[in-house]
Amino acid sequence: MESATPHTPKPQVDHAPVITIDGPAGAGKGTIAALLATQLDWHLLDSGAIYRVAGLMTMRHALALDDEPAIMSLLKTLDVQFFQGKVFVNQEDISLAIRDPACSSVTSKIAALPAIRSALLARQRAFRRAPGLIADGRDMGTVVFPDATLKIFLTASPEVRGERRYKQLSEQGISANLAHLIKEIAARDKRDAERAAAPLRPADEAVYIDSSRLQPEQVLATINSQLSAANATRT
Ligand code: DC
Repeated sequence: MESATPHTPKPQVDHAPVITIDGPAGAGKGTIAALLATQLDWHLLDSGAIYRVAGLMTMRHALALDDEPAIMSLLKTLDVQFFQGKVFVNQEDISLAIRDPACSSVTSKIAALPAIRSALLARQRAFRRAPGLIADGRDMGTVVFPDATLKIFLTASPEVRGERRYKQLSEQGISANLAHLIKEIAARDKRDAERAAAPLRPADEAVYIDSSRLQPEQVLATINSQLSAANATRT
């Protein structure tokens, strides 16, 4: 067998620590991920925003939601930038447009396509940089960062999640109907959990937190004690 030459460059893999926060829509992942990133002064990945960009552009180009090749070709033409909490596509600020409930539903449908998920994998992993990363999504602990230091699965009852999403949308000036929103969230969760490619599910070693009756500070305290325990076993 031939051995590699001593000068063959190794691919750069960043081993910065990662904390993953997965769970269904409206569980409070975004709030907790942002608080934790600020507390630790780590980077933040909102993986849903990456999928939402693909969903929004699929909608705008009126592509069929199962036309994987057409969506793949479209994605290759997009210049997507994340900057100071905002998302830009070909220099247009689409931060608000991607939060629209119609976009949520389309995004969940195209997120089931395996080629789309593979195409977005490297973009998500590129967020992993020192001193560390908080990654928020559906498959952060199971697929994207299987070697994460700590994996959280955050959930809440469908009613609480619907109300939180309603409040969030109202604050952003996006109108929504609460009953319709709860139904839409339930349909989205079902699709996200039942798809064959990287379904929404807790990683085997995930810490399960039901935030229905908890304030963000209480969720954060639970995560911090889990983090101390994880760090203690690593040293
Ligand atoms: O987290 P969010 O609500 O912004 O995500 C929008 C949709 O994107 C969600 O319904 C499913 C998809 N998504 C995914 O499939 N995998 C992720 N890691 C994040 C989001």
